Amino acid sequence: MSNDAYTLAQDAAAALKGAAGVDTFDVALVMGSGWVPAADALGQTVTEVAFTDLPGFAPPAVAGHGGKIRVVRTDAGRHALVLLGRTHLYEGRPVDKVVHGIRTVAAAGVRAVVLTNAAGGLRPETQNVGDPVLISDHINMTGANPLTGTTFLDLTEVYSKRLRALVREIDPAIAEGVYVAFRGPTYETPAEIRMLRTLGGDLIGMSTVLEAITAREAGLEVLGVSLVTNPGAGLAGEPLNHEEVLQVGKATAARMGGLLAKVVDRV
Ligand code: 6GU
Repeated sequence: MSNDAYTLAQDAAAALKGAAGVDTFDVALVMGSGWVPAADALGQTVTEVAFTDLPGFAPPAVAGHGGKIRVVRTDAGRHALVLLGRTHLYEGRPVDKVVHGIRTVAAAGVRAVVLTNAAGGLRPETQNVGDPVLISDHINMTGANPLTGTTFLDLTEVYSKRLRALVREIDPAIAEGVYVAFRGPTYETPAEIRMLRTLGGDLIGMSTVLEAITAREAGLEVLGVSLVTNPGAGLAGEPLNHEEVLQVGKATAARMGGLLAKVVDRV
């Protein structure tokens, strides 16, 4: 077997199809921190496969906390690949590992991918903790890129206008914003948060952008949704606490499930 990243993704997709006994998949969803409970609203679980049982995925950063792919059949009979957990740059993994899940679902034949995350809010004037925000565009400050060589991919519309409009038909009140990605694992300083506000950022996190670029390279439509779990450092006067970030996610993820279930049946 070749170690080439795209061959590894083909191998992972073939293993996934074999394990599920399903040959065509419509859509994939990446469930970020706090979004995992929302996965239960999507439909019936056909099977679940641990990332570690598929070629090319990084071992979990914390032993026993590895992710998995859930194959879901929706009420309307569609098949979704739900990635429960993701690999981050801040775990010290190379960019090929960070985007392997996206290359795998692309090789499995999905046409669209929904990328979810927990993010800090850069606009507390208009954002409430616990609100979902559609990602309209991104600023990649990770210093990384999944593409190498002379792949001058156009990124004018990374996050599909069509899919955003579809979500707004379901939830007309949902806000949109520009997602900025830092590598982490530290949260930002108050000075960095002021800088990002000046630069036009609305959300700050440590994921999603590399996956979105990979999905666009593969020709997939991308929908990005952030759950605002806290204001960025210095905007609320309180230090940031990872436990609180996870707690807000848990409290609101069930509500997000209903939204995602409707989206999945209409993408
Ligand atoms: Cl404030 N920053 C980053 N980088 N990621 C986050 C966050 C902040 N809040 C949740 N995730």
